Amino acid sequence: MMVQVKRICCIGAGYVGGPTCSVIAQMCPEIAVTVVDVNEERIRAWNSDQLPIFEPGLQEVVEARRGFNLFFSSNIDEAVREADIIFISVNTPTKTFGLGKGRAADLKYIEACARRIAEVATGYKIVVEKSTVPVRAAESIQRIFNANTKSDLSFQFLSNPEFLAEVTAITDLKNPDRVLIGGEETPDGQRAIETLSSIYERWVPKSRIITTNTWSSELSKLAANAFLAQRISSINSISALCEVTGADVEEVAHAIGTDQRIGNGFLKASVGFGGSCFQKDVLNLVYLCEALNLPEVARYWQQVIEINEYQRRRFAARIISCLFNTVTDKKIALLGFAFKKDTGDTRESSSIYISKYLMDEGAQLYIYDPKVKKEQIMQDLAQSSTVTDGMERGLSLVSIASDPYEACDNAHAIVICTEWDVFKELDYEKIYKAMLKPAFIFDGRRILDSLHDRLQQLGFQVETIGKKISQRIPFTTNDISKLDLQTPPLKKMKI
Ligand SMILES: NC(=O)c1ccc[n+]([C@@H]2O[C@H](COP(=O)([O-])OP(=O)(O)OC[C@H]3O[C@@H](n4cnc5c(N)ncnc54)[C@H](O)[C@@H]3O)[C@@H](O)[C@H]2O)c1
Repeated sequence: MMVQVKRICCIGAGYVGGPTCSVIAQMCPEIAVTVVDVNEERIRAWNSDQLPIFEPGLQEVVEARRGFNLFFSSNIDEAVREADIIFISVNTPTKTFGLGKGRAADLKYIEACARRIAEVATGYKIVVEKSTVPVRAAESIQRIFNANTKSDLSFQFLSNPEFLAEVTAITDLKNPDRVLIGGEETPDGQRAIETLSSIYERWVPKSRIITTNTWSSELSKLAANAFLAQRISSINSISALCEVTGADVEEVAHAIGTDQRIGNGFLKASVGFGGSCFQKDVLNLVYLCEALNLPEVARYWQQVIEINEYQRRRFAARIISCLFNTVTDKKIALLGFAFKKDTGDTRESSSIYISKYLMDEGAQLYIYDPKVKKEQIMQDLAQSSTVTDGMERGLSLVSIASDPYEACDNAHAIVICTEWDVFKELDYEKIYKAMLKPAFIFDGRRILDSLHDRLQQLGFQVETIGKKISQRIPFTTNDISKLDLQTPPLKKMKI
């Protein structure tokens, strides 16, 4: 018999837990949904007008349901005890030390949740793994439950990975391409799947709800992110070829994307992918393959990461090369710090890596981003400081500008790292007049394509990804070897 779901609890009030549960609360007004977190500050923010994350449409959903059937709380035990279904949506970052360091997923937060549920819950619970995990993570969690079984607790464990993308989270959740639910192939497992499926069926057509065994579900999430990242690395590898042959990567992407077998999504060349998931999930897949003695498969996926690192280094090397092989003490305006437009999220943003390469060469960075706060930028750069003389000197090279014109004033070059629309509408004539000459623009996102002629008429030297535009300035080289090719900056931390 299916469980009559009255209460849902979600552990983890982040980019996944918050939006997902807000949408469930909106679609199921008779179900009480409580989102809990160990981070009390985050919970306070969810209960205020300043939500801890920015997502278009999120504020409206939260305001419509908060206090009615949507609650944010730090009382984890109470919410767990009362819930029929418990989602685990905590972070699963890459391990930074120990076995699998730099590649394996750190499951300590998931494990802490499993132990807490086993300790405080009673009755029958459906526990849903929403975080992205390595295949067979559910098995480890089940072992924790089994080892801590109490006579008054029984549970079913499901995998229900989340496929939302930041910035479009609310529309993705309301109209998903698919919902994936994996569970045990036993009658009890199937009943738990049906129960969770009945929640989604209130707004998702049944044909889009895919049910599988637990391991297929876990692996599908890793594989989906690996395929998406691989497409970006594939087109970025072609962009390098375009820059030396005279082909234009945008034209190539369009030409290959019209082939229905290939499709046109995710073929935008850029300075490299960022975000909290792609790198972590591909590395996780690589580690899994290595651990399962599949070295060829591991190497294949590792290459996706390597091309991404290469693309960032290549772009930084081009900036240095164009600026007469030295950026030491030169003012560079870096426009955009978020990993993509319309978000304040900077996790694994390519801007961090480009900043670090330029700081290592002694450039003076003036950074502007419409959404990212100064403290966040400083924290990201401090955490990844590589400047040989240490963090203090490194950060003394960074200033945060309050508008793009201030960032560009007296600068030698503008480097666009995030595709914010506002950067297409700047008064480039005013900017050009205020810059040192020759004035350079490095467009790492291909957002100024329609302005290239005008920018060149104004006098700018324009450099972009995957297309040769300006004549090379004499005496410059494309010498990428100037940067340490083997070591991405974040891996040689000095602090
Ligand atoms: N961000 C995305 O776009 C996205 C998309 C799909 C899937 N995912 C996956 O979803 C998971 C969560 O990602 P996120 O971006 O929401 O992470 P996040 O860091 O924004 O949020 C995770 C939250 O979990 C809380 N937490 C950690 N341990 C806890 C514990 N023991 N008890 C209570 N709270 C705890 C943290 O305080 C944090 O607020 C990850 O596995 C991620 O890979 C993320």
